[in-house]
Amino acid sequence: MNFKIAVLAGDGIGPEISKVGVDVMNAVCKKFGHQVTYEYAICGADAIDKVGDPFPDETFQTCMRADAVLFSAVGDPKFDNDPTAKVRPEQGLLAMRKKLGLYANIRPMQTFKSLLHKSPLKAELVDGADFITIRELTGGMYFGEKYQDNEKAYDTNFYSRPEIERILKVGFEYARKRNHHLTIVDKANVLASSRLWRQIGQEMAALYPDVKTDFMYVDNASMRMIQEPKFFDVIVTENTFGDILTDESSCISGSMGLLPSASTGEHTPVFEPVHGSWPQAKGLNIANPLAQILSDAMMFEYFDLKAEGALIREAVDASIEANVRTPEIQVEGGTKYGTKEVGEWIVDYIEKSI
Ligand code: IPM
Ligand code: MN
Repeated sequence: MNFKIAVLAGDGIGPEISKVGVDVMNAVCKKFGHQVTYEYAICGADAIDKVGDPFPDETFQTCMRADAVLFSAVGDPKFDNDPTAKVRPEQGLLAMRKKLGLYANIRPMQTFKSLLHKSPLKAELVDGADFITIRELTGGMYFGEKYQDNEKAYDTNFYSRPEIERILKVGFEYARKRNHHLTIVDKANVLASSRLWRQIGQEMAALYPDVKTDFMYVDNASMRMIQEPKFFDVIVTENTFGDILTDESSCISGSMGLLPSASTGEHTPVFEPVHGSWPQAKGLNIANPLAQILSDAMMFEYFDLKAEGALIREAVDASIEANVRTPEIQVEGGTKYGTKEVGEWIVDYIEKSI
């Protein structure tokens, strides 16, 4: 294949892990005979500093021209405690989602055998847990009508039928490709928007008789996720609930630095780690690049290049098994590898594989 990739490194540890993501992409493309070219673009706080806009039009055009976007992270503490800041790095992320029509955000929760002890949950609860959350990404409170003055404020949790149908369809189709179990998470006992989700969910469940569909309130789902993570196969939910539940699910594996994600929809798909920009670690060569590397795997799998994805996953597993690990997942007394060194080990593994 011929890949044109837009690389958006962003802020904090973004540039360091982005470089590793590109190196691994190159190694895999070389191995499998794919041509790949990159176009780099700015976003987040970096873009605010340079041009005053966290997702400039030039970056948008670069994304639109590409087959896929390899995104790293945005966010800078200098904006966090300033409620009067006119423009924030996160707005760049939201603009990217809206402009690229990225309505489906796929966040897998996967465990690694040798890291089970790192989980805040008991190993026996976590061992074998494997589910994905599909988060609606361009609707709900994030994008609904907003108002704020000194006395009152509101955000509107608006969802239309087509928006709900298209994301539930993604959920049902994923369940079909996995273990045929879909959990639709809502708050239908309180919210009108959730009642419409549930109604449409029931209508669509009838069209997917091979998928066992259940409906669960979000408060209950958040409890179930830590009590019995193995219950879940595919979860589908609205934007805000998905934001919260995927932070919860991301820590089950033991390190947020391990989990990739894909955002897909109307235009170019985006592949990015679930974790953020970790500004305190910027330039220290300590950030775990595995989530970024696994985002590469998700990209290949999106294009149905299964062997490419599988080789990346194998290399990642091998690096963990070989104790080539960044500090936060290293065993006691083990050598702490840097971001760059973990990346080099994985590239080397890919190059040497047959
Ligand atoms: C995420 C993040 C973003 C979100 C922030 C940075 C705007 O938390 O991708 O989950 O809330 O969607
Ligand atoms: Mn979040």
